[in-house]
Amino acid sequence: SMGAPANIFWQECSVGKSDRQKLLKQKGCVVWITGLSGSGKSTLACTLGRELHGRGNLAYILDGDNLRHGLNRDLGFKAEDRAENIRRVGEVAKLFADAGLICIASLISPYRRDRDACRALLPDSSFIEVFMNMPLELCESRDPKGLYKLAREGKIKGFTGIDDPYEPPLNCEIELSPDNGVCPSPCTMAGQVATYLEEKGFLH
Ligand code: PPS
Repeated sequence: SMGAPANIFWQECSVGKSDRQKLLKQKGCVVWITGLSGSGKSTLACTLGRELHGRGNLAYILDGDNLRHGLNRDLGFKAEDRAENIRRVGEVAKLFADAGLICIASLISPYRRDRDACRALLPDSSFIEVFMNMPLELCESRDPKGLYKLAREGKIKGFTGIDDPYEPPLNCEIELSPDNGVCPSPCTMAGQVATYLEEKGFLH
């Protein structure tokens, strides 16, 4: 279903995004963190959220795993379910950015097309794609939920990185990867993202 639905209208209000941004002294945007399971997306999201809060900026985290308990509880991990998962979170992230918040979305989001569709929802340069470029071996050695082990045993089918694809971004704003085989600390990575947001004028 594309385009404007029939008999559905758009209501404009006199208080708009720019008014809310003035109130909050920041610019709404979406920081979209993508990467394999166990690459550190949620940890980065939390650390960045705390960093921004400490600086007096209002941020809100949308975590894929958490949203699958509610908003996306009807979705599985087939390509079309992941696409719908990403589409919904992209729309919600857009609303948070429109509310004037720094929205931090943390999902595997393995398909480039799905991520690009979210990017297209946001005003120019207010979608900041952060790629957790961590080797599969590192993610698998962490295996915080024991899911890689189950996937290797064939007890989970279609696990990203094992028997399901992950398409790395081609033009992300920020890429985080190990330095000489050592992964930077969450604080270091969060600081890097916060600095980017500050330099681009999203923070006050
Ligand atoms: S996606 O691909 O963006 O729709 O996935 P997402 O909503 O981020 O959810 C990923 C978490 O679900 C768990 N899980 C799986 N991941 C990948 N593939 C399969 N088949 C799968 N089944 C369950 C896994 O714990 C992911 O958590 P994270 O936080 O990414 O480690």
